[in-house]
Amino acid sequence: MSAMTDTPAVLAGQQRSAELEQAIARDPGAFRILTGDRPTGALHVGHYFGSLANRVRLQRAGVELLVLIADYQALTDRDAAATLPDDVLGLVADYLAIGVDPERATIFAHSQVAALNQLLLPFLSLVSVAEISRNPTVKEEMATAGSDVMSGLMFTYPVHQAADILACRANLVPVGKDQLPHLELSRIIARRFNERYSPDAPFFAEPEALLSAAPMLLGLDGRKMSKSLGNSIPLRATADETARLLARAVTDSQRRISYDPADRPEVSSLVLLLALCDDTQPEVVAERIGDRGAAALKAELTTALNDRFAGIRARRAELAADPGHLRKVLATGNERARVVADATLHAVRKLMHTSY
Ligand code: TRP
Repeated sequence: MSAMTDTPAVLAGQQRSAELEQAIARDPGAFRILTGDRPTGALHVGHYFGSLANRVRLQRAGVELLVLIADYQALTDRDAAATLPDDVLGLVADYLAIGVDPERATIFAHSQVAALNQLLLPFLSLVSVAEISRNPTVKEEMATAGSDVMSGLMFTYPVHQAADILACRANLVPVGKDQLPHLELSRIIARRFNERYSPDAPFFAEPEALLSAAPMLLGLDGRKMSKSLGNSIPLRATADETARLLARAVTDSQRRISYDPADRPEVSSLVLLLALCDDTQPEVVAERIGDRGAAALKAELTTALNDRFAGIRARRAELAADPGHLRKVLATGNERARVVADATLHAVRKLMHTSY
């Protein structure tokens, strides 16, 4: 179904990602991954199946993993929120609960890594206002909020993302297709920097997108599942909360359950989620539930989610009870990220002749 709508860039990205997966399997040590989330609320099961599980898989395969808590990005569209510290520590707890190993991985917040942010300035000099304006996320924001309201930080956010990636010298960024244009801009910035300041020996590797076969889960109201829309099943939800959330999930009036994302998006998303929990195909799930209808689908999904996430939730509850530990993990990660970003900035200054 998606093949019909995918652009040539997405198809090429998928092809390249398949090659990258093989390269990772051969030599995981050749890759450094940067991935991240904005601290705007609790991570949910859509994040888990779409991206978090994939990070843990790659970490276990032996790839070096850096996980960015993009706190400045949370400030692109709102004032500093008093909930930010809790949201940030909440993300750390989510990461550890799903299996990110703080001994091997680096979890950090970009506001805490000065050198990373300083790279934004030289990088801004390498792109034009028109190029940034063509970025789909910026364009969309410009269209909805308008340039009178949109902050300069929002406008430059794809360049900031390039600074995140290149400060860490990451060469692989697992993303959804919506993030491909950001990656393309990061590659352009890396290339231009190399051409201008380091023509004989490219300094930055051009980071590559690793597209996962991430399924698009809808929220319980049929819109995109989102932290901010209040339509998600948070990872940390209790068994009772999960049951209550699913009870109000939107379905439709057809009794027989089928998997038909185009015509029955809400029911199909629930079927897909159950299939993901059971490690099976949505068609198999739809067939099994059949005429037993939406009530049976919701009942089975409640049990499946609660089984699947029981361990993660128990770990997360333990972790959340010890904020001192979470702060320590983050402080260690920040320190490690600082060492890497300081070295990058040092080299960049030398290459740019701004080292005196
Ligand atoms: N833009 C990403 C998002 O909205 C978060 C992010 C910021 C990120 N910087 C990054 C992801 C660097 C990967 C690499 O979810």
